[in-house]
Amino acid sequence: MIKNESHLVLEMKNIVKSFPGVKALKGVDLRAYSGEVMALLGENGAGKSTLMKILSGVYKRDMGVILIDGYNVEFKNIKDAQSNGVSIIHQELSVLPNLTVWENIFLGNEKYNPLTRRLNKKEMIDETRELLKEIGSDIDPEIEVRYLSVGERQMVEIVKSISKNAKLLILDEPTTALTDVEVSKLFEVIDRLKSQNIAMIYISHRLEEIFTMCDKVTVLRDGSYVGEDNVSNIDRNKLISMMVGRNLEEQYPYVEPQVGKEILRVDNISLTNRVENVSLKVNAGEIVGMSGLMGSGRTEVAKIIFGEYKKNSGNVYIDNTLVNISSPEQALNKGIAYLSEDRKGESLILNMSVKQNMTLSNLNKYENNLTKKLDRKLESEDYDIFSKKLSVKTPSGEQLIKNLSGGNQQKVILAKLIMLSPKVLIIDEPTRGIDVGAKKEIYEILNELKKAGTAIIMISSDLEEVLGISDRILVMSEGKITGEVKREDATQELIMKYAVNADH
Ligand SMILES: Nc1ncnc2c1ncn2[C@@H]1O[C@H](COP(=O)(O)OP(=O)(O)OP(=O)(O)O)[C@@H](O)[C@H]1O
Ligand SMILES: [Mg+2]
Repeated sequence: MIKNESHLVLEMKNIVKSFPGVKALKGVDLRAYSGEVMALLGENGAGKSTLMKILSGVYKRDMGVILIDGYNVEFKNIKDAQSNGVSIIHQELSVLPNLTVWENIFLGNEKYNPLTRRLNKKEMIDETRELLKEIGSDIDPEIEVRYLSVGERQMVEIVKSISKNAKLLILDEPTTALTDVEVSKLFEVIDRLKSQNIAMIYISHRLEEIFTMCDKVTVLRDGSYVGEDNVSNIDRNKLISMMVGRNLEEQYPYVEPQVGKEILRVDNISLTNRVENVSLKVNAGEIVGMSGLMGSGRTEVAKIIFGEYKKNSGNVYIDNTLVNISSPEQALNKGIAYLSEDRKGESLILNMSVKQNMTLSNLNKYENNLTKKLDRKLESEDYDIFSKKLSVKTPSGEQLIKNLSGGNQQKVILAKLIMLSPKVLIIDEPTRGIDVGAKKEIYEILNELKKAGTAIIMISSDLEEVLGISDRILVMSEGKITGEVKREDATQELIMKYAVNADH
C-alpha cells in the first residue's frame, strides 16, 4: 500500500480542565498526524486520560480549541466523536462479555433488512469477519466475548472503532494486561492501521514500546505541556527527565538482604492442569522474584497460598507450622497479603473514598475494643503516612477512588496491603500501569519492607524489574518451577531459557 504524505489530523490547543480540588490540565497542546503514532506520556495523574476524554466527548473542557482536519469541533459524547472519526479505547475495556463479537461491534448501529425490517444478522456477521480479517485476526464473530482473552477483546474493540471509519484512534494503556504474544499482535495491527493512514495516540508507561511503536511523543507533567518531539531525537533518559522533571539516577535501587529464618514454605502443591508439584521457600528479609510467561502458573501458586484457590495436594507452612488456609481472610489472619494482578476487578470499591479503600482491610486496628467505635483520628494518621509514602495524587482522602488516575488507584491498593504489615507479601505485577518515577518509589518501599524482615514474593513479567530488585529468582513454565537463579547469576537469557522450556 502506498503511504500518503502525513498531515495534521488533530490539533488541541491550550486545553484547560479542572475538577473540584484538582487542576487536571493547565493549558495543554497535542497534535496527531495521519499514518503516525503520537505517544502521550506523563506520570500517573499527569492528565493523559483526562485529555483523551475531552477529545472524545466524555468530559467538557473549560478552555481551549480542538481542530480536526482544520475544523473546530466540540463533541457532545463518545458517539458524536465516533461519527466524526475519533475513537477511543479506554484504559478499561468496554466490550460487553455476554454479547457476541458481532453484537458488540454493531451495538447501537444495527443493520436492518429494509424490506422485512428485521435484523440483518448475516450481513453483520460477514462484515465483522471481514473487519477482523483486515487487522489479521481470525476470531469467530459469533463467539461470546466472555470466552475471549484480554488481548482478543482488545482486537474486538479496535475493530469496533475502525468499523466507524476512524481517522483518529486513541489507545490508552492498551498493553498493560496483554501477554507478549498479544502485544506483538497488537503492534502488527497498529502497523496496518498506520499504512491505512489512520492517526493514532498511544498512551503507555512501558517506555520501550514508545521506541518500537511510536513516531512522535508529547509529554505532560502535572497537567502542563512539556513538549513534542520526534522519537528519533530522544533517548530513554531524556524522556524520563521530560516526564518527571529530573534525572532518575538509578531505576532499580538494590540493597543487600539480611536473610532471616524461613517464613513461608510451600511443599509440593498441585492444582489440576495449572500447577504441578511446586515447592518453594521464602525467608524473612528477602525478595524472591517469580518469572515466567503469562499463564505459566505463577498467579495460581500465589492464589493457592492466599487461599483463593483450593489445591489438590501439597502443604503450606508458615513459621514451620503446617497451616490450612482456605480463604483470603484466613490467609490475612496468618499474616499473608496478596496484591492481585487484576486490581480493579478484585481490590477496589469504586464508590468509596480513597481513605476508606486504603484502611478497609485494617479496620480492627482502629476499632476500640470496648465502644466498638472507630478511632477516626488514628485512621486519618495512617492514611496520611501511607498516602505520602506512596505519593498518592489526590485532592484529599475523601475523594472517591474512581476519580483517581489509574496509576494512583494502584498505589492505594499497595498502600492498603503494606498497612497490614504482613509477614508474607505476595505482589503480582506490582508496577503495571505505574509511571517510572513511582516505580522507583515502590521498589524503595519493598526494600524497606525487606529490611524490616518481610518475606516477599514478587511476580512480574518485567524482566528488568525482576533482575533489578530480586535477591533470588524462581522461574515457572507450564505449571512447574523450571529454574532457580541466584541474583549474581541472573541474566535475561538464562531466565528466558527456563521460562520457555518446561523440561530443560
Ligand atoms: N472525574 C474526576 N473527578 C475528579 N478528579 C479527576 C477526575 N478524573 C481525573 N481526575 C484527576 O485529574 C488528574 C489527572 O488524571 P488522569 O486520569 O488524566 O491522569 P493520567 O495521566 O491518565 O494518569 P495514569 O497514568 O495514572 O492513568 C488526577 O489528579 C485525577 O485524580
Ligand atoms: Mg490514565
